[in-house]
Amino acid sequence: MAEIDFITHYDSRSPVAEAYRAIRTNLQFSGAGKTLKTIVFTSAIPNEGKSTTVANLAITIGQDDKKILLIDCDMHKPVIHRRFSLLNRGLSNCFAEDLPLKEVIQADVFPNLDIVTSGPIPPNPAELLGSKKMKALLQEAAEMYDYVFLDMPPVLAVTDAVLMSSQT
Ligand SMILES: Nc1ncnc2c1ncn2[C@@H]1O[C@H](COP(=O)(O)OP(=O)(O)O)[C@@H](O)[C@H]1O
Ligand SMILES: [Mg+2]
Repeated sequence: MAEIDFITHYDSRSPVAEAYRAIRTNLQFSGAGKTLKTIVFTSAIPNEGKSTTVANLAITIGQDDKKILLIDCDMHKPVIHRRFSLLNRGLSNCFAEDLPLKEVIQADVFPNLDIVTSGPIPPNPAELLGSKKMKALLQEAAEMYDYVFLDMPPVLAVTDAVLMSSQT
């Protein structure tokens, strides 16, 4: 595990952790009147720090006593289960076994932070993310949590993140 992966937890007094708190505060004000709840995290290409950013920001929000769910929607190269050392039974299992989201939520991985891992890599991630079932899963999540963060693949590689931003 790289030091940066969970810096907001292990070094919450560091300047990096302070920067994440600034983002947390900005998020609270960026909904322009509406509560911003479900947020897609993406960037142009791989290895730019998406998963690291979403993990640390999620931890920071949990530290502020907000209930947060992080869903690994990168069903091409998922990393969240490895980073957090979790069982990889998650999102794709909801589709394969027709389960509700709550069956695959791993609770309190960090304070107030619950996680849904990607599950086994499916052959058709974009179709799953664009489906009615996905919309229902997101709705279920939005009812249970203050924030729902979606870790996505890069936009220049696959269409998933763009598709997802229209689902939320
Ligand atoms: N700010 C940073 N400084 C140094 N290394 C970083 C930083 N952010 C991420 N990394 C490292 O870069 C690699 C890719 O980061 P990751 O968050 O998985 O990128 P992405 O999700 O965009 O593919 C990881 O090994 C991670 O530990
Ligand atoms: Mg990633």
